[in-house]
Amino acid sequence: MQEIDNFLQNNKDWASKVTAEDPTFFEKMAQKQTPELLWIGCSDSRVPAEIIVGAQPGEMFIHRNIANQVIATDFNCLSVIQYAVNVLKVKHIVVCGHYNCGGVRAALSKQNSGLLITNKWLMHIKNVYRLHQAEIDAMPTEYLRVNKLVELNLIEQVHALSHTSIIQESWTKHNSPTLHGWVYDLSDGLLSSLISIKPGDEIHPIYQYVADES
Ligand code: CO
Repeated sequence: MQEIDNFLQNNKDWASKVTAEDPTFFEKMAQKQTPELLWIGCSDSRVPAEIIVGAQPGEMFIHRNIANQVIATDFNCLSVIQYAVNVLKVKHIVVCGHYNCGGVRAALSKQNSGLLITNKWLMHIKNVYRLHQAEIDAMPTEYLRVNKLVELNLIEQVHALSHTSIIQESWTKHNSPTLHGWVYDLSDGLLSSLISIKPGDEIHPIYQYVADES
């Protein structure tokens, strides 16, 4: 229990320090949030969103799940996106993947009968693998195969964002937000940008929403 109590003590220390530096900080924070960025990242404990980009409380709206996926039937992620876009009116959405992702590595393996729910969540990444199987299988080591799929999955998830009605409607009405795919390297702490999709960029026709003609 001592370790979990440490977190509570750390919290008291942090709140005291912040108040000492800016006595009105929490008063301002309690009024409203105006983040300009929605972050969709992996749940991995080694990729703490705010810390790696030096963001302060109030600057980033955040959703995390295993292997940073944007799945069209996931009401959790979709609700976060809808609120961030329609209410908070974020200017940017970042999907952040990371090399050596355990979720992506698991998706390249056989299914684990002890993790039946997680298997289902990873099914979408298995589909990304099948789309790019030749390119991934050409990599010389398992580590590099995982990292190639990390990149391809990330790009796929940014496209999946652009396929949502939420994004397409906002692009038409507000010319915003811009979508980004960043990958984080656990071995040096650095982010790289792999893709960005601007409002109005071409979306594959089968994912475009059109007026109901029925
Ligand atoms: Co991960």
